[in-house]
Formats: sequence, structure tokens, C-alpha cells
Amino acid sequence: MARRPRIAVVGSANIDLTTFTDQFPKPGETIFGQKFNLGFGGKGANQAAAARLCGADVFMVARVGSDLFGPATIENFKNLGIDTTHVKQIEGLSSGVAPIFVEPNGQNRILVVKGANDALKPDDVDAATEVLKASDCIILQFEIPLETVYYTVAFARKHGVRCILNPAPGQAVEMSALAGLDYFIPNESEAETITGMAVRNVEDAKKCAETMVAGGIRRVIITLGANGSLLAGRGLSEHVQPFAVKSVDSSGAGDAFIGSFAVFLAEGVPELEAVRRANLYAGLSTTGVGTQKSFYDRARFDAEWAVRG
Ligand code: RIB
Repeated sequence: MARRPRIAVVGSANIDLTTFTDQFPKPGETIFGQKFNLGFGGKGANQAAAARLCGADVFMVARVGSDLFGPATIENFKNLGIDTTHVKQIEGLSSGVAPIFVEPNGQNRILVVKGANDALKPDDVDAATEVLKASDCIILQFEIPLETVYYTVAFARKHGVRCILNPAPGQAVEMSALAGLDYFIPNESEAETITGMAVRNVEDAKKCAETMVAGGIRRVIITLGANGSLLAGRGLSEHVQPFAVKSVDSSGAGDAFIGSFAVFLAEGVPELEAVRRANLYAGLSTTGVGTQKSFYDRARFDAEWAVRG
């Protein structure tokens, strides 16, 4: 039997405080929300959880705070079977937290306080050299210092390890630091923030992706929510259709896409099919509440794929 994919995530871990509401308070006003959910989140941790649930051996490089949430986050990684050798608690800092608001149609708004995630530095990447070099893929996001992101992209390039960067939350990027990157996976709003080009439909997404590819990125995938995703590279621009699902909470869907996509690619699934599978995996994650809590395990996913793939 082929060995399991090895995925390393250099990224964030947060605690998600999700409130379900159909309206937002005005300044000075107090109103009632409908429902609340406390869960483990953070784009990095979610992507690690998705990769693990899809069957990979997963290694997390992260920093958590010296509060109640820090040890609980490490425990959660361990319960999922994720290697925490390079997850450390930082004295005097809070853990990352994310108040999330979900509307009745499943649409989310997220506010992130980075806390200890901001303490993950290039030295910490060096300390994990052996693990990272032995990985099939390194996954990164933007909830850690950009300096660390650029450093890790260069590390992956130097050691010939596939690298996926999810530029979330969207912020200004030094594109020259990303030249030669294997996969750049923003959603519509992140792509818009990065390029300054509006992304309102698939045609816009194609133009926007073209610009990023021209900047030297090998593949760009723009995730388009209920419109599926757009896969682009030199001479390649393919709109990949979504799967119909009854969405209740879209938080973490992008993370589900990225974690599962990394595993499918590492298993040798052809790229376009890996995107289709990741579309389904992400879509299914929106049918449950929360981020990691809503992710399917491999057996459940494979059963769905067998019927709908
Ligand atoms: O992508 C969803 C995630 O964004 C949440 O888990 C939250 O913690 C923020 O990082």
C-alpha cells in the first residue's frame, strides 16, 4: 500500500466564537443573537484538520497563547492525530481568537485577533526543518507574520517541497516574494484585495487569476463559494463547477478546500480532479455548523464522492 501523504502546516490556530444572527447591533445597541458555538479554528489549524481527516499524516508548526485556550488547542491537535512537536505555548500572549457571525443563509463575517499566531517567526520554521523537508506539501496562510510566510515559501522552493499559500485574510502582498509558488489559493475578496481587480463573477476571476499567473505564480485557484472555483496557470483557465449542497454555515469552507486539495494532490490525483474533489469536500463542510467540527472524515467523503463525483 502507498504511504500516507505527509502534510505540514505552518500557520495559525484560533478559538472560534460563532454567533448565529439575522441582524447586527447598531452602535450603543444590545440585541439577541439566535445561537452560539465555541470551536477550534484558525485557518492553519482548520487546513491541518481537513488534511488529517482526509487521511494524511499532518505536522503543525504554530504558536498558541498562555491562556485557557492554548493547552486546549494543543490537546485538540493531539486528539485529531496531528503532530504537535512544533506547536509551542508563548508566555504572556493570548491565543488567537475569532468572533464569527453567521447569517441565516450561511454567509459568515469573521474578525481575527492574531494573539500568539503573530509570534511564529522564521527561526521557528528553521527549527522544524527536518519535518518540513520530509513533507509532500507545506501549507501556509496569512494569519501569521508575512515575514514568516515569505521565508517559508523560499524554504519550500529551496528544498523542492510543493507549497500552497492561502492569502487569507487578504492583505497587500509582495508578489516578487512568491515567484515560482506552486499554488496560490485566495477567495474572491482576497483576490480582489491583492490585485485591486473586482471579482464579481467567473469572467472577473479569470482576468484576476491571469494577472497573478503573469506575476510568476505557477497555479492560481480562486475559490468562488457557491460558484465552485477557478483553476488557472499559463495557458490554463478552467471553471470547476460546484456541487449542490444545503449550506448552513460556510465558515471554514475555504480551509476544507485547501486541506483536502493538498491530500488529493499528494495522493497523485490529477490536478483538475483534485480541484473537483476539494470542491465537494468544501461544499459538504458547509452543511454543518462550525469549522473543524463540520469537516467530513475520509470514509464519509469517499461515500459522497462515489455517488456524486
Ligand atoms: O477560515 C475560517 C477561519 O478563519 C476560522 O476558523 C477563524 O478562526 C479564522 O481564522
